[in-house]
Amino acid sequence: MTILVTGATGHVGGELVRQLAAAGHPARAMTRRPSGARLPEGARAVYGDADDPASLDAAFAGAEGAFLMSAQGVGTAPGPTHDLALAEAAARAGVRRVVKLSVLDGGAGSDVIARWHSEAEAAVTARAWSWTLLRPGRFMSNALQWIGQLKAGDSVSMPFADRPAASIDPADLAEIAARALTTDGHAGATHELSGPQSLTPVEELGVLAGVLHRDLRAVPLPAEAARAGMERYGFPAEVVDAIMRRTLESDRGAEVLPTAQKLLGRPARTFAQWAGIHAHAFLK
Ligand SMILES: NC(=O)c1ccc[n+]([C@@H]2O[C@H](COP(=O)([O-])OP(=O)(O)OC[C@H]3O[C@@H](n4cnc5c(N)ncnc54)[C@H](OP(=O)(O)O)[C@@H]3O)[C@@H](O)[C@H]2O)c1
Repeated sequence: MTILVTGATGHVGGELVRQLAAAGHPARAMTRRPSGARLPEGARAVYGDADDPASLDAAFAGAEGAFLMSAQGVGTAPGPTHDLALAEAAARAGVRRVVKLSVLDGGAGSDVIARWHSEAEAAVTARAWSWTLLRPGRFMSNALQWIGQLKAGDSVSMPFADRPAASIDPADLAEIAARALTTDGHAGATHELSGPQSLTPVEELGVLAGVLHRDLRAVPLPAEAARAGMERYGFPAEVVDAIMRRTLESDRGAEVLPTAQKLLGRPARTFAQWAGIHAHAFLK
């Protein structure tokens, strides 16, 4: 079964392409820069840009399964136009099985983030194909954002430093996606997913320090500095408000959920395991 993977150069998509190719499934890796894509044997790069829906038909042609993700920022358009374009292209191509990467709780709630994800998920669930939604909380790979600071020194300034989350390894998400795409029993399922332990960013940095054998120091940013940072980065005001509220007023995301272990048939990877596998990225 040919499977089209969107976000194939990203954290989950990249792992999924590697896993599908290793298992002998013809994986088609969609990217806006196919000539620069470093892919495993058995995978083929195809051009596709969710900002240019006409480019997607060639990417999806002949695919029977598809992994759909979008990197479009919430609130940067009137709605999730990338999710809509990808789902429409997959439907035009006659794709039969779709796994969509969403976020924890998806469209539940009433703020701008919930409305965005509700529309994005509906683009997939409203169609007559076999669909599965993956709803993970924080990714362990977010720690890669510390690389710049760790090259310059031993301290990392971080927003929401004391807010715990049961972060998940994108490779575990990819493995769950691969199963949903290549085996039966996942049709119509919505999987809320977490990793196996709840850690604050400060604690994650402590684990990374142990793996890298470095004395690293967390510098917590006050909440207002976190808000100012998101505003400087161009996040719409309504989205900044929603992120602040969700992060500071709710513990959702801190809970360890049993789903990943159940689906994987083994414990989900810990942050220490993720850090060990990705230590090289911090050593360059
Ligand atoms: N990070 C988290 O903690 C977290 C938690 C829960 C859910 N999520 C969800 O996970 C998803 C990915 O998050 P991430 O930050 O880790 O991103 P990522 O995987 O690094 O995503 C970047 C990918 O998006 C592709 N892309 C960007 N613009 C595109 C466009 N116009 N058309 C087609 N492809 C495009 C890029 O492909 P090319 O550049 O190669 O074209 C790249 O492969 C998001 O949907 C997010 O909501 C993230």
